[in-house]
This record gives sequence, C-alpha cells and structure tokens, in this order.
Amino acid sequence: MALRTLINRKTLTTTAPLGFRGLQTFSLPDLPYDYGALEPAISSEIMQLHHQKHHQAYITNYNKALEQLDAATTKGDASTVVKLQSAIKFNGGGHVNHSIFWNNLAPVREGGGEPPKGSLGWSIDNSFGSLEALIQKMSTEGAALQGSGWVWLALDKEFKRLVVETTANQDPLVTKGPSLVPLLGIDVWEHAYYLQYKNVRPDYLKNIWKVINWKYASEVFEKENP
Ligand SMILES: [Fe+2]
Repeated sequence: MALRTLINRKTLTTTAPLGFRGLQTFSLPDLPYDYGALEPAISSEIMQLHHQKHHQAYITNYNKALEQLDAATTKGDASTVVKLQSAIKFNGGGHVNHSIFWNNLAPVREGGGEPPKGSLGWSIDNSFGSLEALIQKMSTEGAALQGSGWVWLALDKEFKRLVVETTANQDPLVTKGPSLVPLLGIDVWEHAYYLQYKNVRPDYLKNIWKVINWKYASEVFEKENP
C-alpha cells in the first residue's frame, strides 16, 4: 500500500520548477509493476504503449498548456486564458485518470483480482447486492459508453455511499460532483484494449477484473470514509 500510495501522491504532485515564477510541471510516474506483469489479461505491448506514449502525451500537452496559461496570465490575455481551458481539462484529466488507473491494476501474483475485504467489501454488498453485481454493472455501463471515456466506482463523501459513474473523454470524476472520490477507474478508450481485443470492448471488460487491485481501492475507501 505504502509504495503505491506514495507513487500516486508523487505522480499528482511531482513537480519541476519552470521559469522565474516557479511554474510547476508534471512528469510520467513509473508503473508499480512490469509491463508484462498483467498478462494474459492485458498484454505487455498495450501496457507499454499506453504508459509510455498515451499517458506521456497527456503530460506533455498538459505541461505545454500550463506554460501557455502562465504566459497568457502574465500578459493579461483573458481570451487565451479561456481558450486554454479545454486543453487543460482534457490533458490534465488524462494525467489524473491514468495515474489512478495504474494503481487500480495489479499482477495476479500480487493480489490482482482478489475480492475486496473489510469495509469496502461490506459496502459493495450493501450498495449493489454483491461484488459480482457491481462488476456486472460496471462492465455493462463501460461497454455501453459511446466513444471514449471511463467507468468509475466512487465514494460519494457527502452522502457516504458508493456510486458507479461514467465520464466522457478524459473528464476526471470530479466533473460529475465535487464530493466524488475515485476508488476504481477503468479506461474504456480503444487504446486501452484494441491491440489485444480489437473492437470487442466487452471481452476486455470481462478480463480486466482478473487484475483489479481491490486492495488499493479498499485503502482509499478506508482513508476517505473512516
Ligand atoms: Fe488510456
């Protein structure tokens, strides 16, 4: 737990000073496992491309947009400040979402796919009937999501309940409500499965549960819902 939590915190706060105003930028986090460690559920080729190319591209473009925002703000260029918001949301969301996603996965030999224990397990049973019912619901909603996006299991801190949500494109979960805390996010963009599963997204959504890191989701749940 400690290692993954540290990686996640580091990922979302890793910074490098840029410019005299100390603008903070972001960098690609290491994965907490090897690229091939999730096989056969997710191939090594997919994991490497997804991490090194796709996640890196979001970070590169996020940093670029932040630098442009900094320059536009300094100049008092309100039009450009507004124009940059969509790039910041898309690429910043891509960085946030993927940083969570890597922690939501684990090799089978390290507990991937093992059902959640403790309070998260009970809450899932109370909210959805059973873990199997939750998996069915998330798989169905993920398969039905048009275009690209994410399906989430979230804790709603305001109402102290578990919810399933979907977000389009790279919208982070917080766009669906400020009190939502992501416990588990599944990437249903084609780049997450196409090389292995082609156009059959339901097969990807069937197999990914074999490498879901419920321990990580439980740790976040217990921290946010003491
Ligand atoms: Fe992705």
